[in-house]
Amino acid sequence: TSVGLIFGGNSSEYEVSIVSGHNIYNAIDKEKFEVHPIWITNEGYIASEADAFKVLADPSYQVENPHKLANLSNISELANLPEIDIFFPIVHGNLGEDGVLQGLFRLLNKPFVGDDVLAAAVTMDKDFTKILAERAGVPVAKWLTVKRPEYEDGESPKLDFDYVVKTLGTSNLFVKPSNQGSSVGISHVQKAADYAPALAEAFKYDDKILVEEGIDGTEVETAVLGNDRPVVSGVGQIINKAGTWYTYENKYAAESTTKLQIPADLPTEVVEATRKYALKVYQATECSGLARIDFMLRTSDQKVIFNELNALPGFTNISMYPKLFEEAGIPYTELITKLIELGQA
Ligand code: DAL
Ligand code: MG
Repeated sequence: TSVGLIFGGNSSEYEVSIVSGHNIYNAIDKEKFEVHPIWITNEGYIASEADAFKVLADPSYQVENPHKLANLSNISELANLPEIDIFFPIVHGNLGEDGVLQGLFRLLNKPFVGDDVLAAAVTMDKDFTKILAERAGVPVAKWLTVKRPEYEDGESPKLDFDYVVKTLGTSNLFVKPSNQGSSVGISHVQKAADYAPALAEAFKYDDKILVEEGIDGTEVETAVLGNDRPVVSGVGQIINKAGTWYTYENKYAAESTTKLQIPADLPTEVVEATRKYALKVYQATECSGLARIDFMLRTSDQKVIFNELNALPGFTNISMYPKLFEEAGIPYTELITKLIELGQA
């Protein structure tokens, strides 16, 4: 079976995707699968296969002659790839995880790992995902959405900190772009002066943003694998240094003090609630293949509150998704084989 492993891409999560691609490439069962790496550069070009192998070996590798690359807008570049049986996209974020790349696979009439177009598009959007989660009976943090025209016209009451505090019942807020990953564009707001800059920051990344009730607690995450009969892993917990949250730096920087505790040392009721809610959200959003589903565990009452779903979660060597299944008895290499089989099913 030949696998087109696609990584990189011109989203803000480019670097994360390079590392995910590197790890998947190293771990994939090379006796079962012939891997054709497909590197989309940060400018959105497809590199040659030879260059893709080079960046897999050394994530800091840069192409020397960018003019020689084919533009991604030229669909035939992908269509003309030699004998690809299945695509494995590990392009995080916009244009990779949001249904766009999935639509391309559909046009090419090729199987692929992970969500189909609808689920990918819906789950990339935190607003729509929360609407579906809430409708499925899963607790979510209170939130407001602000769209760019409302923001630019400047008249919406949602631009007023006091109004938001009154509506959401707290001055502990998170402001987030609706379609982003890895915490890019997110701000924690606790006072009026920080609100306008947080809105401006989030609008750099999207035309729709969320203003959310902040939950005092710790993040817990679980992993789901499967199509019609998905299995849910155990639960992992993110332990941040006191007073900090799970920022981009805490996720990926070498000096990060954040720890992943796998399995989480939590009461059975909390673990089971997390797993049950994860399955509900996975099914409500019609996911297939895989997802990592993130929650907040509120300190005051130990209630589990849905945060977001990641359709193509990070596969770096510190990432929660592969580690949760390793803990559940599915080693990394076998997990990748299963994901490919699910994509072909
Ligand atoms: N969006 C990043 C890759 C994650 O959720 O793991
Ligand atoms: Mg998250």
